[in-house]
Amino acid sequence: MSEAGIDRIGFATTSLFLDMRDLAKSRGVDPEKYTVGIGQAEQSVAPSSQDSVTLAAAAARDAMKGEDPGEVDMILMGTESGVDASRAGAVYVKELLGLPDRVRCVELKQACYGATAALSWALDYVSMRPRRKVLAIGSDIARYGLNTPGEATQGAGAVALLCSADPKILKVEEDREFLTALAADFWRPTYSDCAIVDGHYSTEVYLEFFSRLWKRYKEETGRGAQDFEAFLFHLPFAKMGLKALREVLKEADPDRAEKLRSRFEASAAYGRRVGNIYSGSLYLSLLSLLESSLLEAGSRIALFSYGSGAEAELFSATLQEGYSSFLAPERHLAAINGRRKVGVGEYEHLFSDFLPSSPQDYSCDERYFAGPFRLAGVKGQKRQYEAGM
Ligand code: CAA
Repeated sequence: MSEAGIDRIGFATTSLFLDMRDLAKSRGVDPEKYTVGIGQAEQSVAPSSQDSVTLAAAAARDAMKGEDPGEVDMILMGTESGVDASRAGAVYVKELLGLPDRVRCVELKQACYGATAALSWALDYVSMRPRRKVLAIGSDIARYGLNTPGEATQGAGAVALLCSADPKILKVEEDREFLTALAADFWRPTYSDCAIVDGHYSTEVYLEFFSRLWKRYKEETGRGAQDFEAFLFHLPFAKMGLKALREVLKEADPDRAEKLRSRFEASAAYGRRVGNIYSGSLYLSLLSLLESSLLEAGSRIALFSYGSGAEAELFSATLQEGYSSFLAPERHLAAINGRRKVGVGEYEHLFSDFLPSSPQDYSCDERYFAGPFRLAGVKGQKRQYEAGM
């Protein structure tokens, strides 16, 4: 039996945010539609100098604090906002982190499921090589477009999971149930920097996949709602997870249902402010739960990963003894609280100042340089990344 799991959790987001009430006002929508109906309070806004690579590198750096880079054998980066159709973003991440060349770097793609695939590969790898570690990262910028229904569910950020055979935070169990079926709910053609989404249909597919997997999970494991201290979800927006959780709440006694509901709120706290970070979203829910509520060691948590297109996985994990001393709530809250608020005009300007999809050179606006890593621009069709001063 594998004991592998998550040793450290790193997080990064951008230095700017948009208040959903400001967006609602500007779009002529009742603010409660966004804050209550969809469940989002804020969304991180990315200037062009921040992309899935810089955010992944910043999250990985956060996860690697105090760790030995020489122990890392692989960087696996799940993303659906990759910066190159050929080279893995993880190669840039490796360079920005200054990791030794003796490392494998790969990018994985299946919409928001990519980071779960990375985690799965990482766990199998470290189980076979107990002295080695793997970084599994989910990093994305969610872009739907100005004045679109999806606009209220954008966001930007990354979560990095340092995986080991003797994890300090969470042991990931082998009770994995998964499924894939073709669905045209959300996708992004290579000519577009914004996703195409059938929002209501995607919600249906998400809920149907959760339902199918939860049924199968119960049959295979004999476990039910009473066996879990928390349910975590991929959260494209907070209300989405709540809709799925309702199915479990119907099966729980009142005390358990109340516990699961309040833990769900704790798990959604970071995401309500950062927005959808696609492949890292489920793991942001995990971080939010662990850093904002005290669960006992040994608690079993369910995790539901969903990637449009569509693929989903349901599995469980158990908290390790002393896990809370390996978290960094102050640092992560400071990253969220320290962002500068932008108005709708500045957000629209930043949204439109996107890298040209043509061979011309491009310089990112230096006034928005922030964070440990940034894209300075593109020269001779080569991306110019650098560490911050
Ligand atoms: N006060 C309170 N609530 C209000 C309200 C008001 N004044 N006005 C509306 N609402 C409620 C509605 O009742 C509705 O709630 P329920 O879903 O519980 O019924 C909610 O606000 C949203 O209202 P609408 O459905 O009318 O909103 P919409 O048509 O603008 O679409 C959306 C909402 C589908 C989420 C849209 O934002 C969207 O397309 N988002 C992107 C797609 C997405 O994230 N899909 C999720 C699954 S796909 C996935 O997981 C992959 C991924 O990460 C992208």
